[in-house]
Amino acid sequence: MEDARVGLLEPPRRLPPKYFYDARGSALFDRICDTEEYYPTRTENALLARHAGEIMGHIRPRHILELGSGTSRKTRHLLRAREARECGTVYWPFDVCREVLEETGESLVEEFPWLEVNPLLGDYSAGLAHLPRPADGCLYAFLGGTLGNFEEPEALKLLSELAFRMSPADRLLLGVDRVKPTSVLQAAYDDSQGVTAAFNRNLLHVLNRELEADFEPEAFAHRSLYNEAAARIEMYLVAEAPQQVRVGRLEATLRFDAGETILTEISRKFTEASVTRLLARAGLAIERHYAPDNQYFSLLTAVPQPDVHDPVI
Ligand code: SAH
Ligand code: TRP
Repeated sequence: MEDARVGLLEPPRRLPPKYFYDARGSALFDRICDTEEYYPTRTENALLARHAGEIMGHIRPRHILELGSGTSRKTRHLLRAREARECGTVYWPFDVCREVLEETGESLVEEFPWLEVNPLLGDYSAGLAHLPRPADGCLYAFLGGTLGNFEEPEALKLLSELAFRMSPADRLLLGVDRVKPTSVLQAAYDDSQGVTAAFNRNLLHVLNRELEADFEPEAFAHRSLYNEAAARIEMYLVAEAPQQVRVGRLEATLRFDAGETILTEISRKFTEASVTRLLARAGLAIERHYAPDNQYFSLLTAVPQPDVHDPVI
């Protein structure tokens, strides 16, 4: 709640992404993944469908720990590839949304009766210290371009923490979205059916419930824009008219001018060079790199490099 207080009270207002994902938010996100415009899911799914056998054959992990696992839709390719080889795999889906973890856990056990599923409910932006440390041979999966939802320092912190806990036999499987024409990017975050807009506004329903606020979600417009200089999508909620919002749990009244914004999400887009550099600073070296012909998305495996952690963190 402290993060909401800091983010909401003073302009420029900004909220952390985890508030998107209540049960309704997770369901809306799942629908975004099926929209025509949202190419990342399709693209990453095709890469996983094509290369899961090779990835799993090479790494042979006993454990798969996935950050922000959601419905684990794409992860099923990895599990299927694992199934073809040997059993005894443990899957640790880690997510902030309880409902999605519960539902997904049930459906996974049904689809893969040999699989041990140990859901982890928590917030990865609070650090990884409380996570169990699986035995050697763990594949850490971080898919969907979710790394791009972190600013550079936070991304570096999270990856460094991961690198620090990884043994030489462990691997990171990372999916990141790539820089591409602005029109393609903007459409992906502003689909014509308005699912993304509903997802963005759902944040205000969550705040109403969790912070005893009285936002009128329909009084805010969804806006997404590609900030080319920063290579990132920025998602805003824009007050359409002057308004006041009472936030009970913060004992505060927020005053919005017409046109005033809340930054609700960033989604950074990478080049091969920028993701290589970020990983290197965190102490990780890219081992394999899979991308489609149009270079819309990158699926990477990376391995920890001993003793090259950035000394400033
Ligand atoms: N990996 C899936 C889902 C991506 S959406 C895919 O590629 O399609 C991001 C996921 O991360 C959601 O399931 C959301 O609930 C989860 N999430 C967001 N913020 C989180 C946080 N701070 N800690 C843990 N999980 C988080
Ligand atoms: N990880 C996703 C991404 O950056 C999250 C996302 C997709 C998202 N569409 C969104 C977040 C719309 C907020 C609004 O692509």
